[in-house]
Amino acid sequence: MRMKNKVVLVIGGASGIGLAIADRLAAEGAEVFLTGRRSIDVDAAVDKIGNGAIGIVGDAGDSSDIEKMMETLRSKKGRIDALIFNAGVSEPAGLANSTPDHFDRHFSVNTRAPMLAMRAGSSLLGKGSAALLIGSIAGVKGVPTHATYAATKAALRSYVRSWTAEFAELYRHAPA
Ligand SMILES: NC(=O)c1ccc[n+]([C@@H]2O[C@H](COP(=O)([O-])OP(=O)(O)OC[C@H]3O[C@@H](n4cnc5c(N)ncnc54)[C@H](OP(=O)(O)O)[C@@H]3O)[C@@H](O)[C@H]2O)c1
Repeated sequence: MRMKNKVVLVIGGASGIGLAIADRLAAEGAEVFLTGRRSIDVDAAVDKIGNGAIGIVGDAGDSSDIEKMMETLRSKKGRIDALIFNAGVSEPAGLANSTPDHFDRHFSVNTRAPMLAMRAGSSLLGKGSAALLIGSIAGVKGVPTHATYAATKAALRSYVRSWTAEFAELYRHAPA
């Protein structure tokens, strides 16, 4: 029960790796909130996890949905101990097939959405809390047919480095 009483938000937690993260953290005692785009998937994930998990339906690529997710956490708990941004899109395409839509879909969910989530959620992250943004080895090495996906994850790594410096500066001046 290493996560007892910890409030965790898993964005993109209704399937895949996000569901596994949410499930494991709930088993470790966390109060888990998970999001997904479709209520049928969110409900199924909540049923599978049990342990009081709460589902929120919302599109991680939509800034107003992100705001609503954070409002739910603010009104129900007043804080987030671990904000986990897991949602991701990865569709193969060589350069010749890398259309503007393909680019926008990837950057919207993999890079823009974590920035929006951090912007909306950072005021709920107190001392000792954590933000986990799921990257990929693709963010540090070349991956044929996944160049745009790789670029989104490289940009995310860059965001994290800058936010880390920004938060360090903020907390340096925060009251103890
Ligand atoms: N699998 C790997 O080998 C691997 C390796 C390195 C990194 N990663 C990263 O790990 C994370 C999870 O990957 P995965 O393999 O579990 O992928 P996945 O099975 O495709 O799951 C992606 C999750 O993101 C959600 N999602 C996508 N777009 C969304 C949106 N607009 N709003 C809300 N949720 C959205 C999906 O929900 P829907 O069901 O609604 O689509 C799904 O729950 C991703 O960030 C991925 O880039 C994966």
